[in-house]
Amino acid sequence: MTLAVSEHDLARLVDAARAARLHAHAPYSRFTVGAALLDEQGRVHAGCNVENAALPQSLCAEAVALGSLVAAGGQRVRAAVVVGQSPQAVTPCGGCRQKLREFASDDTPVWSADEQGWRARHTLGELLPASFGPDHWSTAK
Ligand code: THU
Repeated sequence: MTLAVSEHDLARLVDAARAARLHAHAPYSRFTVGAALLDEQGRVHAGCNVENAALPQSLCAEAVALGSLVAAGGQRVRAAVVVGQSPQAVTPCGGCRQKLREFASDDTPVWSADEQGWRARHTLGELLPASFGPDHWSTAK
């Protein structure tokens, strides 16, 4: 069961995601994204998209933030914030939804924001219903 995320932590997350977005390397799409994740210890880990001239080698902001969380010893994602500037709320791509699934739960909140404010709130279960996850392996016969 995921605990509610405080206003204070949400503010820390969106600040970190906006700051990371400023460092995005997105010369090809020109679409800059920042992401921040709250771990089980209350720490914030941020990332930005890192594109590559060989386009499929590009990294999404969420994947970079997740790598940072794991490298710092984090084990769970308690909340995620994604920041991008678009007419529609920016939510994680399908691949990043699955990456987050490894360390988060169906009820983990995934917030979308832009430079003006909050745009959307989903749970990971809403973004990736009936997902395949670690439990499928641990119960394998
Ligand atoms: N992108 C992210 O980093 N995260 C998202 O949630 C959506 C898309 C990046 C990938 C690519 O560098 C650029 O945005 C355009 O798709």
